[in-house]
Amino acid sequence: MQKSLIVALDFAGREEVSGFLKHFDDEKLYVKVGMELFYQEGPRVVEALIAKGHDVFLDLKLHDIPHTVYQAMKGLGKLGVTMTNLHAAGGKEMMKAGLEGLMEGAAVVGSYGSVKGADGDDGDGACRPSLIAVTQLTSMSEERMRADLLIEGKLNDVVLHYARNAFECGLDGVVCSSLEASRLRDAFGAEFKKVTPGIRMKEDSVDDQIRVVTPLEARRFGATEIVVGRSITRAADPRKAYEAILQQWQGVEIG
Ligand code: C5P
Repeated sequence: MQKSLIVALDFAGREEVSGFLKHFDDEKLYVKVGMELFYQEGPRVVEALIAKGHDVFLDLKLHDIPHTVYQAMKGLGKLGVTMTNLHAAGGKEMMKAGLEGLMEGAAVVGSYGSVKGADGDDGDGACRPSLIAVTQLTSMSEERMRADLLIEGKLNDVVLHYARNAFECGLDGVVCSSLEASRLRDAFGAEFKKVTPGIRMKEDSVDDQIRVVTPLEARRFGATEIVVGRSITRAADPRKAYEAILQQWQGVEIG
């Protein structure tokens, strides 16, 4: 369970990451490296985190022509990350190409993080990192989807359709709002990952997130992994904040 609480390392550089991780002594975390950190530091920051025993969700949200995504994923697969992602909006051919590239890259190094899922060793030694799809960003509203993207229909239906495409392409799950998780669980089962950001404890600042839920609510809605950033990284005591969130995520109400 601990390895389904993902801490978003939304920092600008390695020094800030090291400063933050000092709060955790030797504890092995599941961390998210996003564009901010990766574009600043490159693959070495991922390699350094993995070398220290952390699991890494590499959140780069790839979206390009299938061949480019295939090549890029092949490279990411060699880093030993536990999970990575792409945009479902890139279409099914792109998702299939991404998955193929990731598998080929992972096969070269033959190892990845400690978190095993439905995508783990399937009996023939074909282990690989998890690959999940971004459906619609939580910053996208239904109005903007219509006006900017000319996509008619309900946002929830678009999310479900994109998730179905991801499922049919053999991906392991999606990034989604907790509020969409139960519908996706009904459609694609509990094993299909519903990785959800927008998590806050009741007393926390909401920051720029629009719809937030507590870790306990996320669990009840069917989230399989939660991604938590500022509630931990900006806490006065990050370790204490992490423990409190973990405890609630594990289903223990804190009095
Ligand atoms: O600080 P906070 O907990 O809001 O951070 C949430 C993390 O999840 C950030 O890294 C953010 O980029 C990411 N994220 C998100 N909403 C999405 C996809 C990713 O908040 N739809």
